[in-house]
Amino acid sequence: MPMPMPTPLHELDAFEDALVARFEEHPVLAGISLLPDEDFAALLLQRRFVSLAFTPSYDLAIDLLRDEAGKRIARVILREEYPGGDGHTPSHREDMTHDLGLLGISRDALVASRPTAATRRSVEDAFELIAASGAHDDCDLRLLTVLRFWGEVLVSAEYGRLWERMGPRFARGGENRSRFYHPHRVHDAKTQPLARVSLLSGSHSDRLAARVTELLAREGSSDCFKELEERSVQLKTAFYDQFLPALDRVGV
Ligand SMILES: [Fe+2]
Repeated sequence: MPMPMPTPLHELDAFEDALVARFEEHPVLAGISLLPDEDFAALLLQRRFVSLAFTPSYDLAIDLLRDEAGKRIARVILREEYPGGDGHTPSHREDMTHDLGLLGISRDALVASRPTAATRRSVEDAFELIAASGAHDDCDLRLLTVLRFWGEVLVSAEYGRLWERMGPRFARGGENRSRFYHPHRVHDAKTQPLARVSLLSGSHSDRLAARVTELLAREGSSDCFKELEERSVQLKTAFYDQFLPALDRVGV
């Protein structure tokens, strides 16, 4: 049997850019400015539970990775979530709580908040996607693809949409007071096409892409890359679907 020809990277770029564009058009994300305040707050509180599951997802993937180079990239990204070793610097998750506070979400609301069934499923499905990826011969390509697309590229797309609504709330004088949503929107983003990515690029997506593209060349097939990117979008789409009734209530 002839070896499968690798899909040219520019085709994979077009494939994933189209997926991201489709995801950004999810009615809840595209209509984020139309949601009543209480529904927007509920969405952010639910999205917080997905963020709380971000670091265990990375830990799970690191456990299953066999590729030392990929593991190193994932470890560095994970450690960036917890800056400073002296206990004086908030973690990125604490930065999220800080931002939620500036958006008017009280500590009481935070205390009372529990994940919905749809949110729990979204988190469980992400763990499952990672765990199942570890079972394949090409597990390294699969795991890094999920970390990059589910954990970085799509997150930046989500926060880009949320920012349309929350951005003005963070502005004071010429200062942007967001410590979580805005920085993550920037440092998680895909800033370079797969076809031109370099390790020198600082964004989380691009750093992972540097190894993903090498593994794509090694494996020779990009079927799992496409499949996992599609599954990542499905999983996140299901999360936002739970807020469709809120849009219905305002007649969208
Ligand atoms: Fe990130």
